[in-house]
Amino acid sequence: MLAKIIVCGKGGSGKSTVTALLARYLAVNGRSVCAIDADEGSFSLHRMINLPSPERTLVEELGGREAIAKGFSSGMSLEKIKDPRFSRGLHVRDLPCTCVSCRDNLYLVSIGKIREPKEGCSCVMTDLARQFISMLYMGNWTYLIDTSSPMEHVARSLYEACDEFLVVLDPTMESLELAVKMRELSVKLNKRIYLILNKVSERTKTHMTDRLKANDLEPAAVIPYFPALEEASMKGEPLPLQKTVIHPLMNLVDVLFDRFQLESAFMTSTIK
Ligand SMILES: Nc1ncnc2c1ncn2[C@@H]1O[C@H](COP(=O)(O)OP(=O)(O)OP(=O)(O)O)[C@@H](O)[C@H]1O
Ligand SMILES: [Mg+2]
Repeated sequence: MLAKIIVCGKGGSGKSTVTALLARYLAVNGRSVCAIDADEGSFSLHRMINLPSPERTLVEELGGREAIAKGFSSGMSLEKIKDPRFSRGLHVRDLPCTCVSCRDNLYLVSIGKIREPKEGCSCVMTDLARQFISMLYMGNWTYLIDTSSPMEHVARSLYEACDEFLVVLDPTMESLELAVKMRELSVKLNKRIYLILNKVSERTKTHMTDRLKANDLEPAAVIPYFPALEEASMKGEPLPLQKTVIHPLMNLVDVLFDRFQLESAFMTSTIK
């Protein structure tokens, strides 16, 4: 099953939430999952998926942004952490343990973070993310890439490295406009996108689906506003994986994966 999945959307639409829910759900159902934090300005994904933050980002592991930029121009960068004994792609287990955090079959890698106010542009990180994702070993792994906004730039840069494209839409005009733009981009690049309506009430869901329909678009999943998700985020706790929360993503999981290959015990249980 193809599975380098990029999750994008406008700021605050729920990209990290969707990434974390899918990552945790797939992992507890037996898939090997790696969440890739490609948002240089956010520090919460690790908490959402209940893993410690990796000790170092990939950028830090590779000696910082300037060293990486030089590495790119001399054709070297990630190659130096890829084990030359393996001709296959880069495996997250090949990475130095300082830049991976994991529990069981759920892994987390962070591309880079802007920790100081004047750390400059994030192009190096985006380039590194693209190179890293392209090199990743597939096997039956699932990679979920949480991105930053503004999404269009990131989307364009990472699109080619990814198989599937999830666009998270909150109930705003800006998200509707982005959905239309993303469709144009997907046609141009000949890739599919899946729209996920998020944080909707019955009323905003109707409005958003009608507006999408008027543009020949249809959501692949609709996630209601769940106070439990907001509360977990407020308290810095792992996202709750109750059936009610995960259920809206099931159709999408069906489309992206063969859900029946996953162990089915989950649907009757609640996991913290
Ligand atoms: N379905 C939902 N119901 C309730 N709250 C939600 C839902 N989805 C996301 N949220 C809340 O919305 C806020 C933003 O979510 P999240 O951090 O996932 O967005 P994001 O798109 O990753 O933001 P950023 O652009 O800052 O990275 C968080 O407080 C989160 O808990
Ligand atoms: Mg985020």
